[in-house]
Amino acid sequence: MSHRLMIGKSLLAIAVSAILTGAAAPTVGAAAAKGAEEKVKKGPMAEHMETIDDAMGKLRRTIRKAELNTESLKLLQEMQQEAVVCKGMVPPMAAKVPEAQRQQFLANFRKDMDKFVIALSNMEIAILDGDNAKAQDVYKTLKTMEDEGHDKYKEQDETPKK
Ligand code: HEM
Repeated sequence: MSHRLMIGKSLLAIAVSAILTGAAAPTVGAAAAKGAEEKVKKGPMAEHMETIDDAMGKLRRTIRKAELNTESLKLLQEMQQEAVVCKGMVPPMAAKVPEAQRQQFLANFRKDMDKFVIALSNMEIAILDGDNAKAQDVYKTLKTMEDEGHDKYKEQDETPKK
């Protein structure tokens, strides 16, 4: 091992132990710990939700313009596929629901995801009909479904409200 590498390694060790003991910057240490905690909590569903989130951001602009309808249809196809995947998953919060109520909780989650998939179809039909005003109305419904779905089925400390 080269001398330079060794110095580098020991500096790194000092930095790591300073962070771990909280000696250097307690606020940075606390923030890092909080980040790690969030990562552990998020389930595989979160990744599919992130894809839906990205598409939703793009859709907000594309549905305003009829000439971008092909792009909107592509985004909707992707969102619906991801939503169907989520529908078959178990939200991490289910583990915290008392066993006696868990089955009902999962049925409600599935029903609400079904309604979300239906709303995506409604937007797709509006776009295929060239009714972009209707598509913009459905967009508002999707946003409400997102908020209500997260209130009911997502652990609240995972994402601070923007
Ligand atoms: C436009 C609609 C939606 C968008 C853009 C969206 C976006 C997201 C994002 C970005 C996350 C990850 C956030 C995080 O944990 O840091 C998430 C998680 C989650 N969402 Fe959605 N969501 C939508 C609709 C819904 C609906 C309709 C439901 C339920 C009926 C739902 C249930 C959940 C649950 C349970 C999680 C937690 C997943 C986990 O921790 O593994 N979402 N969503």
